[in-house]
Amino acid sequence: MISRAQRVLRLNDAGEFIKPSPRQYPHQWNWDSAFIALGLAHFDLPRAIAEVRGLLRAQWRDGMVPHIVYPTGPSDYFPPPAFWQTQNLPHAGPIPSSALTQPPILTTVVRMFSERTHQQSNGNATDYVLRFTHYAFPHLLAWHRWLHTARDADGTGLPCLIHPWESGMDNSPLWANALDHITPAILPPFKRRDMIHVAADERPLAPDYERFVYLIDLGRRLCWEPRVLLEQMPFLIQDVLFCSILHRADEDLRTLAVALGEPTAEIDGWLARTRAVFDARFWNEARGLYLDYDVRSQTPIDVNACGTFAPLFAGLASPEQAARLVAEHFDNLAEYAPSADSCFRLPSAAKNERGYAPRRYWCGPVWIHINWMIAEGLRRYGFDAQADALERDSLALIAESGFREYYDPRDGRGCGADDFSWSAALTLEMLLGSRSDPA
Ligand code: DGY
Repeated sequence: MISRAQRVLRLNDAGEFIKPSPRQYPHQWNWDSAFIALGLAHFDLPRAIAEVRGLLRAQWRDGMVPHIVYPTGPSDYFPPPAFWQTQNLPHAGPIPSSALTQPPILTTVVRMFSERTHQQSNGNATDYVLRFTHYAFPHLLAWHRWLHTARDADGTGLPCLIHPWESGMDNSPLWANALDHITPAILPPFKRRDMIHVAADERPLAPDYERFVYLIDLGRRLCWEPRVLLEQMPFLIQDVLFCSILHRADEDLRTLAVALGEPTAEIDGWLARTRAVFDARFWNEARGLYLDYDVRSQTPIDVNACGTFAPLFAGLASPEQAARLVAEHFDNLAEYAPSADSCFRLPSAAKNERGYAPRRYWCGPVWIHINWMIAEGLRRYGFDAQADALERDSLALIAESGFREYYDPRDGRGCGADDFSWSAALTLEMLLGSRSDPA
């Protein structure tokens, strides 16, 4: 499995970046690159560092790190770079990119490989990684600052997402209600290309996709100006998964700051503020779940999806909350635990959720990177048996169905793109990585 995983990463290497998959996603994606770098670091540290540098080179002048970067120009992927209309924006970056961001798992990955190199105490590699960390730190700091300020709609510092693609969980049932309230009155002409290489029943439905395009069109008409986007975008969500990844990333950024002798006061402020507001915003005591929040309608989103476990990854849950998440949900046969009609954990939406669809992208399939983050989170709270089970399921899915983008939880069949880079990279991490100790 190790050599097969390495082969997938080599196969998808486009020189300047590693494609998430050979045909479906031919550009550089933000959180894909972070997970890819984590896997690459196990056998080619310089290539891992080049991957991160490539992504950070595309950072916007205002601090945002975009979700898609197109260093090699257009391809048969929709939307092409020109569709975002970012060319003449004063706050955009130097490389054609999308105008959205994605969960900042990158900071955690940078911390992991900087600490690991240090622990291996290999002089040359340590210097090399230290130089890279010096380079990466101000970029990461600027991105976190942008998330906590430019995307702060209500003074909590919890960033708002303006498009489902920013969550990474494009068509999750989490967004159904918010998207239902959007009528795409005028749609620019476009042609979907995402069903050329992947079966239509594994991809988002047409009404969702139309809204994805509608929101891009709206964003570009607002010149992607953060303040105006917060005022006018009809999709404005605080997402548990995104905010948890950011909080964990803030912790990891702080660790990097200490190692580099940089000040920590600003980061401490973000950490404290998130801790102070997180439960009030997201925790639902009656259900024992973390729920997303729709800032536009000022209502919690009463949908049970995989992100509810992400506060474990961030250390944001109390031991009591963690115990409830595990007993009432993770181990619940009707929701996430294996049962007669579903053998693999963790479905990306609870099996008894109304929008659950076991093969349709983010409506139910199992994703390897979600499993990895949740396993890390479970370990953080001492639920080692559950974490081991999750990791076993991930490796079994990969062994049976290959490095696929996602998997049907009922029978483990692979779905979406094949030769998927982060499934390969996280296989390397699961098989070769030492457990990461959070800050
Ligand atoms: C896609 O094209 O489906 C991507 O998920 C957008 O980021």
